[in-house]
Amino acid sequence: MNEVIKLLQSRCSVRKFTEQVIPQDVIEQLIICGQAAATSSFIQACTVIQVEDASKRNLLVDLAGGQAYVASAATFLVFCADMNRHKLVCDMHNSEMLSGYTEQFITATVDVALFAQNVMTAAQSLGIEGVYIGGIRNNIAEVSDLLKLPALVYPVFGMCLGYPAQEPDTKPRLPLSVVLKKDRYNDDNDTKTISEYDKQVREYYRSRTGGTKEQTWSEQIAGMLVKETRPHMKTYLKDRGFVLK
Ligand SMILES: Cc1cc2nc3c(=O)[nH]c(=O)nc-3n(C[C@H](O)[C@H](O)[C@H](O)COP(=O)(O)O)c2cc1C
Repeated sequence: MNEVIKLLQSRCSVRKFTEQVIPQDVIEQLIICGQAAATSSFIQACTVIQVEDASKRNLLVDLAGGQAYVASAATFLVFCADMNRHKLVCDMHNSEMLSGYTEQFITATVDVALFAQNVMTAAQSLGIEGVYIGGIRNNIAEVSDLLKLPALVYPVFGMCLGYPAQEPDTKPRLPLSVVLKKDRYNDDNDTKTISEYDKQVREYYRSRTGGTKEQTWSEQIAGMLVKETRPHMKTYLKDRGFVLK
C-alpha cells in the first residue's frame, strides 16, 4: 500500500480538537485542493464560507442540533452549492439563465461533495482532522439567513477542521461484495452478508463505548429510516430556486 491509500483507508471522523489554530495559508491551500476536483461541465459550483465570527459559530452549534464541535473546531467551513454565480455570468452576456432544473441541483451538489472530500483528504495529509456537519440542514433556512446566502445558493453541509485531540478507530465498512457488483445488480446474498457485518459493527460500538452502545448497522439504519428526514428540505430548495423542474 502506498501512503495515499493508507491515508484514505485510515480516515475517520474526528470531533475533538486541540486549541491549535490552522494558519490561513493552509486553509487556502486546502481550498485550492478542493477546486482541483473534477467539476461537471466545468460549472465550478462550490462556494465555501469560512465562519470565523465566534457568535455566528455559537449560533451554528444550535442550528446544527447542539453540536459543540462546530464552535470548538479550529476552523468551520460551510460548503454551498452555488448557481448564483452562473446567473451573474449569464447576465454578463445578456443571456437569460434557465434555472431550477433538478439536473442543475444534482450537478452543483455533486461538485460540492467532490470539492469537500478533496479538502478533507488534503487536510488529513497535513495532520488536520475533521467531520462533516449535515446537521446544519436541520435549520437550513436560518443558516442561509445567517450566512446571507442569496437565491440559487444552498448550504450542503459544514465541515469542522482542527488538530485532533482524539484518535477514534476507523468504523468498519460494508463487505466488498455488497458494494461492488460485476456486470449487473444482484442483491441475492446481501442480507446474509450484512448479518455477518452487523456482528462487526456491534463489536465496534461495544469497544468504542465501553459496552454502553451495542447497535448493529442494520438496526441503526432500520431505526433511522422509519423517521421523517428533514421534510422541510423540499420547500426550502424550491424557495431557493432549486428543483423546480
Ligand atoms: C454529508 C455528511 C454529513 C454528516 N453530518 C454529521 C453531523 O452533522 N454530525 C456528526 O457528528 N457527524 C456527521 N457526519 C459524519 C458521519 O456520521 C460519519 O462519517 C459516519 O458515521 C461514518 O463514520 P466515520 O466518518 O468515522 O468513518 C456526516 C457525514 C457526512 C458525509
